Amino acid sequence: MTAHPASIDSSRESSGQPVATGSAFAFRPASRIEQLPPYLFARINKLTYDKRRSGCDVIDMSMGNPSDPPAQFIIDKLAESANDPRSHGYAPASGIASLRREVASRYLRKWGVRLDPETEVIGTLGSKEGFGHLCLALINPGDDVIVPAPSYPAHVYAVALASGNPLAIDTTQPDRFLAAVAERCESPAGPPRLLVVNFPHNPTATVVEADFYTDVIALARRHSFPVISDLAYADVTFDGYESPSILAVPGAKDLAVEFTTMSKGFSMAGWRVGFCAGSPRIIKALGTVKTYYDYGMFRPIQVAAVVGLRDGEADVVAQSEVYRRRRDVLCEGLARIGWPVDVPKASMFVWARIPEPFASTMTSMDFAAKLLEEADVAVSPGAGFGPAGEGFLRMALIENENRIRQAIKQIGRTIGPVLRSPAAPAQ
Ligand SMILES: Cc1ncc(COP(=O)(O)O)c(C=O)c1O
Repeated sequence: MTAHPASIDSSRESSGQPVATGSAFAFRPASRIEQLPPYLFARINKLTYDKRRSGCDVIDMSMGNPSDPPAQFIIDKLAESANDPRSHGYAPASGIASLRREVASRYLRKWGVRLDPETEVIGTLGSKEGFGHLCLALINPGDDVIVPAPSYPAHVYAVALASGNPLAIDTTQPDRFLAAVAERCESPAGPPRLLVVNFPHNPTATVVEADFYTDVIALARRHSFPVISDLAYADVTFDGYESPSILAVPGAKDLAVEFTTMSKGFSMAGWRVGFCAGSPRIIKALGTVKTYYDYGMFRPIQVAAVVGLRDGEADVVAQSEVYRRRRDVLCEGLARIGWPVDVPKASMFVWARIPEPFASTMTSMDFAAKLLEEADVAVSPGAGFGPAGEGFLRMALIENENRIRQAIKQIGRTIGPVLRSPAAPAQ
Protein backbone atom coordinates (compact mmCIF):
# COMPACT_ATOMS: atom_id res chain seq x y z
CA MET A 1 0.00 0.00 0.00
CA THR A 2 1.94 2.79 -1.40
CA ALA A 3 0.60 6.02 0.02
CA HIS A 4 -2.07 7.08 2.40
CA PRO A 5 -4.03 10.01 0.97
CA ALA A 6 -3.84 11.72 4.35
CA SER A 7 -0.05 11.64 4.24
CA ILE A 8 0.14 13.90 1.22
CA ASP A 9 1.09 17.39 2.27
CA SER A 10 -1.28 19.49 0.23
CA SER A 11 0.11 22.79 1.44
CA ARG A 12 3.49 22.53 -0.32
CA GLU A 13 4.69 22.09 -3.82
CA SER A 14 7.88 20.28 -4.69
CA SER A 15 10.05 23.31 -3.84
CA GLY A 16 8.98 22.80 -0.25
CA GLN A 17 7.35 26.24 -0.18
CA PRO A 18 3.77 26.61 0.96
CA VAL A 19 1.61 27.37 -2.07
CA ALA A 20 -1.65 28.12 -0.38
CA THR A 21 -3.25 28.16 3.01
CA GLY A 22 -6.69 27.31 4.27
CA SER A 23 -9.28 26.72 1.61
CA ALA A 24 -7.82 29.10 -1.01
CA PHE A 25 -6.26 26.17 -2.85
CA ALA A 26 -8.19 22.95 -2.69
CA PHE A 27 -5.60 20.39 -3.70
CA ARG A 28 -6.78 16.92 -4.47
CA PRO A 29 -4.53 14.17 -5.72
CA ALA A 30 -5.61 12.19 -8.77
CA SER A 31 -8.36 9.68 -8.20
CA ARG A 32 -5.89 6.84 -8.79
CA ILE A 33 -4.18 8.00 -5.59
CA GLU A 34 -7.39 8.61 -3.69
CA GLN A 35 -8.58 5.07 -4.37
CA LEU A 36 -5.63 3.63 -2.45
CA PRO A 37 -6.57 2.31 0.98
CA PRO A 38 -5.19 3.62 4.27
CA TYR A 39 -1.65 2.47 4.90
CA LEU A 40 -2.30 -0.44 7.22
CA PHE A 41 1.17 -0.61 8.68
CA ALA A 42 0.98 3.04 9.79
CA ARG A 43 -0.21 2.22 13.32
CA ILE A 44 2.61 -0.27 13.92
CA ASN A 45 5.17 2.08 12.41
CA LYS A 46 4.00 4.95 14.61
CA LEU A 47 4.04 2.80 17.75
CA THR A 48 7.57 1.60 16.90
CA TYR A 49 8.70 5.17 16.31
CA ASP A 50 7.20 6.41 19.59
CA LYS A 51 8.71 3.53 21.55
CA ARG A 52 12.15 4.13 20.09
CA ARG A 53 11.93 7.85 20.82
CA SER A 54 11.20 7.04 24.44
CA GLY A 55 14.43 5.01 24.56
CA CYS A 56 12.94 1.53 24.18
CA ASP A 57 14.96 -1.09 22.28
CA VAL A 58 12.33 -2.47 19.89
CA ILE A 59 13.17 -5.84 18.33
CA ASP A 60 11.94 -5.19 14.82
CA MET A 61 10.77 -8.14 12.73
CA SER A 62 8.19 -6.14 10.81
CA MET A 63 9.78 -5.46 7.41
CA GLY A 64 11.49 -7.77 4.94
CA ASN A 65 14.44 -5.40 4.85
CA PRO A 66 17.76 -7.30 4.95
CA SER A 67 19.97 -6.07 7.77
CA ASP A 68 23.21 -7.77 6.70
CA PRO A 69 25.64 -6.11 4.26
CA PRO A 70 26.45 -7.52 0.81
CA ALA A 71 29.73 -9.39 0.25
CA GLN A 72 32.73 -7.09 0.62
CA PHE A 73 34.01 -7.69 -2.94
CA ILE A 74 30.73 -6.29 -4.31
CA ILE A 75 31.06 -3.13 -2.19
CA ASP A 76 34.71 -2.78 -3.25
CA LYS A 77 33.72 -3.00 -6.90
CA LEU A 78 31.10 -0.32 -6.39
CA ALA A 79 33.70 1.98 -4.82
CA GLU A 80 36.23 1.28 -7.58
CA SER A 81 33.73 1.99 -10.31
CA ALA A 82 32.44 5.12 -8.55
CA ASN A 83 36.02 6.41 -8.64
CA ASP A 84 36.10 6.11 -12.41
CA PRO A 85 35.30 9.55 -13.85
CA ARG A 86 33.52 7.88 -16.78
CA SER A 87 30.95 6.29 -14.48
CA HIS A 88 28.71 9.22 -13.75
CA GLY A 89 26.62 9.85 -16.83
CA TYR A 90 23.40 8.15 -17.77
CA ALA A 91 23.79 4.41 -18.15
CA PRO A 92 21.74 2.38 -20.65
CA ALA A 93 18.18 2.31 -19.28
CA SER A 94 17.73 -1.39 -19.87
CA GLY A 95 20.99 -2.29 -18.10
CA ILE A 96 24.57 -2.51 -19.38
CA ALA A 97 25.19 -5.44 -21.73
CA SER A 98 27.52 -7.26 -19.31
CA LEU A 99 24.86 -7.18 -16.59
CA ARG A 100 22.18 -8.61 -18.88
CA ARG A 101 24.68 -11.28 -19.99
CA GLU A 102 25.42 -12.18 -16.37
CA VAL A 103 21.70 -12.55 -15.63
CA ALA A 104 21.39 -14.88 -18.61
CA SER A 105 24.40 -16.92 -17.43
CA ARG A 106 22.94 -17.25 -13.96
CA TYR A 107 19.60 -18.45 -15.38
CA LEU A 108 21.47 -21.10 -17.34
CA ARG A 109 23.52 -22.20 -14.30
CA LYS A 110 20.67 -22.14 -11.80
CA TRP A 111 17.66 -23.24 -13.83
CA GLY A 112 18.97 -24.51 -17.17
CA VAL A 113 17.13 -21.66 -18.93
CA ARG A 114 18.66 -20.11 -22.06
CA LEU A 115 18.00 -16.38 -22.44
CA ASP A 116 19.03 -13.93 -25.11
CA PRO A 117 20.52 -11.07 -23.07
CA GLU A 118 19.68 -8.60 -25.85
CA THR A 119 15.96 -9.23 -26.04
CA GLU A 120 14.96 -11.43 -23.13
CA VAL A 121 16.51 -9.63 -20.13
CA ILE A 122 16.09 -6.11 -18.82
CA GLY A 123 17.48 -4.45 -15.69
CA THR A 124 15.04 -2.70 -13.36
CA LEU A 125 15.39 -0.42 -10.34
CA GLY A 126 14.59 -3.32 -8.05
CA SER A 127 11.89 -5.74 -9.05
CA LYS A 128 9.16 -3.53 -7.52
CA GLU A 129 9.79 -0.73 -9.99
CA GLY A 130 9.83 -3.22 -12.84
CA PHE A 131 6.57 -4.77 -11.71
CA GLY A 132 4.85 -1.39 -11.41
CA HIS A 133 5.94 -0.26 -14.84
CA LEU A 134 5.12 -3.61 -16.38
CA CYS A 135 1.56 -3.18 -15.11
CA LEU A 136 1.41 0.10 -17.04
CA ALA A 137 2.70 -1.73 -20.10
CA LEU A 138 0.21 -4.61 -19.99
CA ILE A 139 -3.02 -3.45 -18.36
CA ASN A 140 -5.86 -1.48 -19.91
CA PRO A 141 -8.39 0.39 -17.74
CA GLY A 142 -10.77 -2.05 -16.07
CA ASP A 143 -8.81 -5.18 -16.97
CA ASP A 144 -9.08 -8.01 -14.44
CA VAL A 145 -5.71 -9.13 -13.11
CA ILE A 146 -5.40 -12.15 -10.84
CA VAL A 147 -2.95 -11.62 -7.98
CA PRO A 148 -2.06 -13.78 -4.98
CA ALA A 149 -3.90 -13.47 -1.64
CA PRO A 150 -2.72 -12.66 0.96
CA SER A 151 -1.02 -10.00 -1.09
CA TYR A 152 2.35 -8.32 -1.22
CA PRO A 153 0.82 -4.84 -1.43
CA ALA A 154 2.54 -3.85 -4.70
CA HIS A 155 0.89 -6.78 -6.49
CA VAL A 156 -2.51 -5.29 -5.77
CA TYR A 157 -1.82 -1.59 -5.90
CA ALA A 158 0.48 -1.45 -8.92
CA VAL A 159 -2.39 -3.11 -10.78
CA ALA A 160 -4.85 -0.57 -9.34
CA LEU A 161 -2.53 2.35 -10.19
CA ALA A 162 -2.45 1.07 -13.77
CA SER A 163 -6.28 1.31 -13.71
CA GLY A 164 -6.64 -2.46 -13.61
CA ASN A 165 -8.93 -4.44 -11.38
CA PRO A 166 -6.96 -6.73 -9.03
CA LEU A 167 -8.69 -10.01 -8.15
CA ALA A 168 -6.92 -11.54 -5.17
CA ILE A 169 -7.16 -15.34 -4.99
CA ASP A 170 -5.95 -17.46 -2.07
CA THR A 171 -2.50 -18.71 -2.99
CA THR A 172 -1.69 -20.72 0.13
CA GLN A 173 -2.70 -23.96 -1.61
CA PRO A 174 -1.18 -23.55 -5.05
CA ASP A 175 -3.24 -26.31 -6.72
CA ARG A 176 -6.47 -24.75 -5.50
CA PHE A 177 -5.22 -21.35 -6.62
CA LEU A 178 -4.68 -22.72 -10.10
CA ALA A 179 -8.08 -24.44 -10.08
CA ALA A 180 -9.67 -21.10 -9.17
CA VAL A 181 -7.83 -19.39 -12.03
CA ALA A 182 -9.03 -22.14 -14.41
CA GLU A 183 -12.58 -21.71 -13.15
CA ARG A 184 -12.41 -18.02 -13.82
CA CYS A 185 -11.15 -18.72 -17.37
CA GLU A 186 -14.13 -21.00 -18.04
CA SER A 187 -16.64 -18.55 -16.54
CA PRO A 188 -18.63 -16.05 -18.63
CA ALA A 189 -16.15 -13.36 -17.55
CA GLY A 190 -13.48 -15.27 -19.47
CA PRO A 191 -9.75 -15.33 -18.79
CA PRO A 192 -8.04 -12.54 -16.88
CA ARG A 193 -5.96 -9.97 -18.71
CA LEU A 194 -2.93 -11.08 -16.72
CA LEU A 195 -1.93 -13.56 -14.01
CA VAL A 196 0.58 -12.77 -11.28
CA VAL A 197 2.18 -15.62 -9.34
CA ASN A 198 4.65 -15.30 -6.47
CA PHE A 199 6.42 -18.34 -5.02
CA PRO A 200 8.17 -18.39 -2.55
CA HIS A 201 5.33 -16.18 -1.46
CA ASN A 202 5.44 -13.01 0.56
CA PRO A 203 3.92 -13.03 3.17
CA THR A 204 2.99 -16.72 3.64
CA ALA A 205 6.25 -18.40 2.45
CA THR A 206 4.20 -20.86 0.36
CA VAL A 207 6.38 -22.66 -2.20
CA VAL A 208 5.75 -24.74 -5.33
CA GLU A 209 7.53 -27.45 -7.28
CA ALA A 210 8.40 -27.18 -10.98
CA ASP A 211 5.31 -29.00 -12.26
CA PHE A 212 3.10 -26.24 -10.87
CA TYR A 213 4.54 -23.90 -13.49
CA THR A 214 3.98 -26.48 -16.24
CA ASP A 215 0.28 -26.33 -15.37
CA VAL A 216 0.30 -22.52 -15.20
CA ILE A 217 1.83 -22.23 -18.66
CA ALA A 218 -0.56 -24.80 -20.11
CA LEU A 219 -3.53 -22.86 -18.75
CA ALA A 220 -2.15 -19.50 -19.91
CA ARG A 221 -1.51 -20.91 -23.38
CA ARG A 222 -5.00 -22.42 -23.59
CA HIS A 223 -6.63 -19.11 -22.68
CA SER A 224 -4.06 -16.73 -24.13
CA PHE A 225 -3.08 -14.57 -21.21
CA PRO A 226 0.40 -13.52 -20.09
CA VAL A 227 1.93 -14.47 -16.74
CA ILE A 228 4.22 -12.53 -14.45
CA SER A 229 6.17 -14.61 -11.96
CA ASP A 230 7.64 -12.69 -9.02
CA LEU A 231 10.63 -14.77 -7.92
CA ALA A 232 12.01 -12.24 -5.43
CA TYR A 233 12.88 -14.99 -2.92
CA ALA A 234 14.59 -17.34 -5.39
CA ASP A 235 17.83 -17.14 -3.42
CA VAL A 236 16.51 -17.63 0.10
CA THR A 237 15.71 -21.34 0.36
CA PHE A 238 16.31 -23.92 3.07
CA ASP A 239 16.81 -27.62 3.75
CA GLY A 240 17.64 -28.51 0.14
CA TYR A 241 14.53 -26.88 -1.34
CA GLU A 242 15.24 -24.98 -4.58
CA SER A 243 12.79 -22.47 -6.08
CA PRO A 244 11.88 -23.43 -9.62
CA SER A 245 11.66 -20.84 -12.39
CA ILE A 246 8.59 -20.55 -14.59
CA LEU A 247 10.94 -19.92 -17.51
CA ALA A 248 12.20 -23.52 -17.30
CA VAL A 249 8.86 -24.71 -18.71
CA PRO A 250 9.29 -25.32 -22.46
CA GLY A 251 7.65 -22.50 -24.38
CA ALA A 252 7.20 -20.32 -21.28
CA LYS A 253 9.06 -17.49 -22.96
CA ASP A 254 6.15 -17.08 -25.39
CA LEU A 255 3.91 -15.67 -22.70
CA ALA A 256 5.67 -15.32 -19.35
CA VAL A 257 8.21 -13.10 -17.68
CA GLU A 258 9.87 -13.47 -14.32
CA PHE A 259 11.26 -10.92 -11.87
CA THR A 260 14.38 -11.66 -9.85
CA THR A 261 16.27 -9.31 -7.57
CA MET A 262 19.58 -8.82 -5.76
CA SER A 263 17.71 -7.32 -2.79
CA LYS A 264 17.20 -10.48 -0.79
CA GLY A 265 19.78 -13.22 -1.46
CA PHE A 266 22.59 -10.72 -2.10
CA SER A 267 21.49 -8.34 0.72
CA MET A 268 21.47 -5.40 -1.70
CA ALA A 269 17.96 -4.08 -1.08
CA GLY A 270 18.99 -0.43 -0.97
CA TRP A 271 20.94 -0.71 -4.22
CA ARG A 272 17.79 -1.28 -6.28
CA VAL A 273 18.96 -4.01 -8.63
CA GLY A 274 16.26 -6.17 -10.20
CA PHE A 275 15.69 -7.99 -13.45
CA CYS A 276 12.85 -9.02 -15.67
CA ALA A 277 13.45 -11.96 -18.01
CA GLY A 278 11.42 -13.98 -20.49
CA SER A 279 9.06 -13.09 -23.34
CA PRO A 280 10.82 -10.65 -25.69
CA ARG A 281 7.53 -8.93 -26.52
CA ILE A 282 6.76 -8.30 -22.86
CA ILE A 283 10.35 -7.21 -22.14
CA LYS A 284 10.11 -4.77 -25.04
CA ALA A 285 6.84 -3.35 -23.71
CA LEU A 286 8.42 -2.86 -20.27
CA GLY A 287 11.46 -1.23 -21.86
CA THR A 288 9.20 1.17 -23.72
CA VAL A 289 7.46 2.34 -20.55
CA LYS A 290 10.76 2.61 -18.67
CA THR A 291 12.21 4.81 -21.39
CA TYR A 292 9.76 7.50 -20.35
CA TYR A 293 10.21 7.13 -16.59
CA ASP A 294 13.84 6.44 -15.74
CA TYR A 295 17.43 6.24 -16.94
CA GLY A 296 18.27 2.94 -15.31
CA MET A 297 20.68 2.12 -12.51
CA PHE A 298 23.81 4.10 -11.65
CA ARG A 299 26.59 2.46 -13.68
CA PRO A 300 28.86 1.56 -10.70
CA ILE A 301 25.92 -0.32 -9.16
CA GLN A 302 25.53 -2.26 -12.38
CA VAL A 303 29.26 -3.00 -12.57
CA ALA A 304 29.24 -4.22 -8.95
CA ALA A 305 26.10 -6.28 -9.65
CA VAL A 306 27.95 -7.99 -12.53
CA VAL A 307 30.72 -9.24 -10.24
CA GLY A 308 28.13 -10.14 -7.59
CA LEU A 309 26.19 -12.33 -10.00
CA ARG A 310 29.38 -13.84 -11.39
CA ASP A 311 31.27 -14.57 -8.17
CA GLY A 312 28.74 -14.26 -5.35
CA GLU A 313 27.00 -17.62 -5.35
CA ALA A 314 28.79 -18.90 -2.22
CA ASP A 315 27.81 -15.73 -0.37
CA VAL A 316 24.18 -16.19 -1.41
CA VAL A 317 24.23 -19.74 -0.03
CA ALA A 318 25.86 -18.51 3.19
CA GLN A 319 23.23 -15.79 3.56
CA SER A 320 20.47 -18.36 3.13
CA GLU A 321 22.05 -20.34 5.96
CA VAL A 322 21.92 -17.23 8.14
CA TYR A 323 18.17 -16.98 7.49
CA ARG A 324 17.76 -20.73 8.05
CA ARG A 325 19.37 -20.55 11.47
CA ARG A 326 17.22 -17.55 12.41
CA ARG A 327 14.17 -19.42 11.19
CA ASP A 328 15.04 -22.37 13.45
CA VAL A 329 15.61 -20.16 16.48
CA LEU A 330 12.30 -18.40 15.90
CA CYS A 331 10.15 -21.44 15.11
CA GLU A 332 11.62 -23.58 17.89
CA GLY A 333 11.35 -20.71 20.35
CA LEU A 334 7.71 -20.02 19.50
CA ALA A 335 6.87 -23.72 19.82
CA ARG A 336 8.54 -23.76 23.23
CA ILE A 337 6.31 -21.01 24.59
CA GLY A 338 3.22 -22.82 23.30
CA TRP A 339 2.84 -21.13 19.90
CA PRO A 340 3.69 -23.68 17.18
CA VAL A 341 4.01 -22.28 13.66
CA ASP A 342 4.60 -23.69 10.18
CA VAL A 343 8.31 -23.87 9.39
CA PRO A 344 8.99 -22.15 6.03
CA LYS A 345 11.10 -23.79 3.30
CA ALA A 346 12.01 -20.45 1.75
CA SER A 347 11.68 -16.65 1.97
CA MET A 348 12.58 -14.34 4.84
CA PHE A 349 9.32 -14.82 6.71
CA VAL A 350 7.49 -16.89 9.26
CA TRP A 351 3.73 -16.67 8.73
CA ALA A 352 2.27 -17.35 12.13
CA ARG A 353 -1.37 -18.09 12.87
CA ILE A 354 -2.41 -16.03 15.90
CA PRO A 355 -2.82 -18.44 18.81
CA GLU A 356 -5.90 -18.83 20.97
CA PRO A 357 -7.30 -17.26 23.02
CA PHE A 358 -6.13 -14.13 21.16
CA ALA A 359 -7.32 -15.23 17.70
CA SER A 360 -10.94 -15.29 18.89
CA THR A 361 -10.84 -11.91 20.53
CA MET A 362 -8.35 -9.70 18.71
CA THR A 363 -7.66 -8.56 15.17
CA SER A 364 -4.17 -9.13 13.79
CA MET A 365 -3.63 -5.38 14.09
CA ASP A 366 -4.55 -5.35 17.78
CA PHE A 367 -2.46 -8.44 18.48
CA ALA A 368 0.57 -6.97 16.69
CA ALA A 369 0.07 -3.75 18.69
CA LYS A 370 -0.08 -5.78 21.91
CA LEU A 371 3.24 -7.52 21.13
CA LEU A 372 4.79 -4.17 20.42
CA GLU A 373 3.37 -2.41 23.46
CA GLU A 374 3.92 -5.18 25.97
CA ALA A 375 6.83 -7.23 24.57
CA ASP A 376 8.70 -4.54 22.60
CA VAL A 377 8.60 -6.76 19.50
CA ALA A 378 7.42 -5.34 16.14
CA VAL A 379 5.81 -7.72 13.64
CA SER A 380 3.49 -7.15 10.67
CA PRO A 381 -0.24 -7.76 11.17
CA GLY A 382 -1.63 -10.17 8.58
CA ALA A 383 -4.39 -7.71 7.70
CA GLY A 384 -1.71 -5.49 6.16
CA PHE A 385 -1.64 -8.03 3.33
CA GLY A 386 -5.37 -7.83 2.69
CA PRO A 387 -8.38 -9.55 4.25
CA ALA A 388 -6.94 -13.02 3.57
CA GLY A 389 -4.13 -12.21 6.00
CA GLU A 390 -6.44 -11.63 8.96
CA GLY A 391 -5.73 -14.06 11.80
CA PHE A 392 -1.98 -14.15 11.08
CA LEU A 393 1.22 -12.24 11.76
CA ARG A 394 4.29 -12.02 9.55
CA MET A 395 7.66 -12.18 11.27
CA ALA A 396 10.69 -11.22 9.18
CA LEU A 397 14.00 -12.97 9.86
CA ILE A 398 16.01 -9.78 9.89
CA GLU A 399 17.17 -9.67 13.51
CA ASN A 400 20.15 -11.78 14.58
CA GLU A 401 19.75 -15.04 16.52
CA ASN A 402 20.39 -13.47 19.92
CA ARG A 403 17.81 -10.77 19.32
CA ILE A 404 15.31 -13.36 18.12
CA ARG A 405 15.93 -15.36 21.34
CA GLN A 406 15.36 -12.18 23.30
CA ALA A 407 12.16 -11.52 21.34
CA ILE A 408 10.87 -15.01 22.20
CA LYS A 409 11.61 -14.38 25.88
CA GLN A 410 9.72 -11.11 25.80
CA ILE A 411 6.78 -12.56 23.85
CA GLY A 412 6.75 -15.55 26.20
CA ARG A 413 6.58 -13.25 29.23
CA THR A 414 3.66 -11.36 27.67
CA ILE A 415 1.47 -14.13 26.30
CA GLY A 416 3.12 -17.39 27.43
CA PRO A 417 1.17 -17.82 30.67
CA VAL A 418 -2.11 -17.54 28.78
CA LEU A 419 -0.98 -19.91 26.01
CA ARG A 420 -0.02 -22.54 28.55
CA SER A 421 -3.09 -22.14 30.75
CA PRO A 422 -5.53 -25.08 30.84
CA ALA A 423 -8.18 -22.85 29.27
CA ALA A 424 -6.03 -22.45 26.17
CA PRO A 425 -3.86 -25.53 25.62
CA ALA A 426 -1.11 -25.35 23.03
CA GLN A 427 -2.50 -26.29 19.59
C1 LIG B 1 7.26 -10.59 -3.27
C2 LIG B 1 8.14 -9.43 -3.44
N1 LIG B 1 8.34 -8.95 -4.67
C3 LIG B 1 9.12 -7.89 -4.88
C4 LIG B 1 9.74 -7.24 -3.83
C5 LIG B 1 10.54 -6.02 -4.14
O1 LIG B 1 11.87 -6.31 -4.19
P1 LIG B 1 12.90 -5.30 -4.83
O2 LIG B 1 13.76 -4.84 -3.73
O3 LIG B 1 13.63 -6.10 -5.87
O4 LIG B 1 12.14 -4.18 -5.45
C6 LIG B 1 9.55 -7.68 -2.53
C7 LIG B 1 10.18 -6.97 -1.43
O5 LIG B 1 9.91 -7.14 -0.28
C8 LIG B 1 8.73 -8.81 -2.34
O6 LIG B 1 8.51 -9.27 -1.11
